[in-house]
Amino acid sequence: MKKYLFFAILAFSTLNAQFTDITIVKEVKVKNKGVVVSAHPLASEAGAKILKMGGNAFDAVVATQYALAVVYPQAGNIGGGGFLVGVKNNGEKFTIDYRETAPRKAFRDMYLDQKGNANTDLSQNGRLAVGIPGSVAGFFATLKYCRLSMEKLIQPAIDLAEKGFEITDKEAELLNANKDFFLIHNKISNAFVKDQNWKAGDILIQKELAETLKLIQKNGQKGFYEGKTADFLVKEMKNGNGIIGLEDLKNYKVAERKALEFDYKGNQIISMPLPSSGGILIAQMLKMSSFENLQQYQQNSTKAVQIMVEAERRAFADRAEYMGDPDFIQDKTAYLISDEYLKSRWKSFSFNKATLSSAVGKIIPQTKESTETTHISVLDKDGNAAAVTTTLNGLYGSKVIVSGAGFFLNNEMDDFSVKPGVPNMFGAVGGEANSIQPNKRMLSSMTPTIVLKNGKPYMIVGTPGGTTIPTSVYQSIVNVIDFKLNANMSVNSPKFHHQWLPETVAFEKNFPETVIQDLEKLGYKVERWGQLGRTEMILIDDGGTVHAVADGRGDDSIAVE
Ligand code: DON
Repeated sequence: MKKYLFFAILAFSTLNAQFTDITIVKEVKVKNKGVVVSAHPLASEAGAKILKMGGNAFDAVVATQYALAVVYPQAGNIGGGGFLVGVKNNGEKFTIDYRETAPRKAFRDMYLDQKGNANTDLSQNGRLAVGIPGSVAGFFATLKYCRLSMEKLIQPAIDLAEKGFEITDKEAELLNANKDFFLIHNKISNAFVKDQNWKAGDILIQKELAETLKLIQKNGQKGFYEGKTADFLVKEMKNGNGIIGLEDLKNYKVAERKALEFDYKGNQIISMPLPSSGGILIAQMLKMSSFENLQQYQQNSTKAVQIMVEAERRAFADRAEYMGDPDFIQDKTAYLISDEYLKSRWKSFSFNKATLSSAVGKIIPQTKESTETTHISVLDKDGNAAAVTTTLNGLYGSKVIVSGAGFFLNNEMDDFSVKPGVPNMFGAVGGEANSIQPNKRMLSSMTPTIVLKNGKPYMIVGTPGGTTIPTSVYQSIVNVIDFKLNANMSVNSPKFHHQWLPETVAFEKNFPETVIQDLEKLGYKVERWGQLGRTEMILIDDGGTVHAVADGRGDDSIAVE
């Protein structure tokens, strides 16, 4: 930690007085140096260390993900999946989809009881909720863009797992809050449960995880998908109602997909295509709000929020109807992001009152809830850019730890539409396009995004937050491009969220109250939420200065090479 300059600079906020809750920010401005922004200082440091060793942005993002699997176990993972969006300094763009897939024994109605009612406890908790993990295969697929060996990229994570690290206040709190769940879902002792409560400064040592990482270091991808680790995982399935078998693991494959690209006011947006809904959603929302010349309004003013909420409403109605794994459904992306379609979609917009969700999509009754995932933005000094969002889905995923191998398993099966109209843990509803089938990928909202200006990286951005991800990324982009905010304000000023269903608009607790009241008068139903997302942004200005911002809402932190 000492050797690498740490710029978790705590500066008193220069933010507008109306956002009084924001008192500290984490921001760096550098030139000709690589930067890594992630949810945890030790993970950012692992990435910066790799840059220092001669690695590029892709090496760094792999090392950071491995480190997050150790130091940020609630979301960092080897037992989950993610997406990488990359732009090389020669202009080449690529994405790697290492989303989990449904096991071959999965079937459409696997979470319905005899009466046909959905049991979302089973899709959200325990062994039946687990999709086949894709992360490790994703790291190996990234290697061809890297300069260093996997042996080197994984070493910082092995050291952190083996020697342990001091946990933060927030981590202690989370581990304590989840202790009962860990005990319900795991009968064998593990690194995350101890008799006393955790407190800040305690050392978390993960010996079993260190051994698993060493197996990957020694045997490559097979160190995870075959042999001892695979055996441990399948045995863990049999400790309960899990259905993942050895064949499932051996046959897991990443998908390299063409990035979703579109122009926004002269900037080129590069984002994740299906099975993430994220790229399509931000394209739809950005284009629809540009029909009203969004830039003429002030950020977070009543009119700006109204336009953006209505764009979100229409985009999310399409998510529920049309989006899913493109290897299984007809891919309607080109139509959904076409100006012609979006103009017709926007016709029902009026400043006079809120549009009813029933007017823009087929309503299916439902409710909502909660958040956890993590995003990494990296830029190296040669101009290569990487954006990765990775997840276990819920906090600590299914809460099941693979005994003997020491890592948490995801609960990603809940991102499928378990039954048409039944909301997942983020309140998202879906239908046939996102129904369960063996080997299919569940629809995601993760939106790792790189914006180019004149062909060069201008912004690298992403966040966790379930269905709030695309709306937060959307807001981060318009905050910079339309409202001309700096990176810090763009990330840390209060956000809002709407997702078609439920009908309510959610506002962060420090959102200007007068705007919320104005919107209520126009017929908007509102809710106050605690926080939205943990956005990690790197912005490169015209003079080449790199502005990196780690979200002030968490332990997020920046490390400079
Ligand atoms: O892929 C998705 O959309 C979700 N599994 C992401 C979950 C998430 O972001 C939770 N985070 N805070």
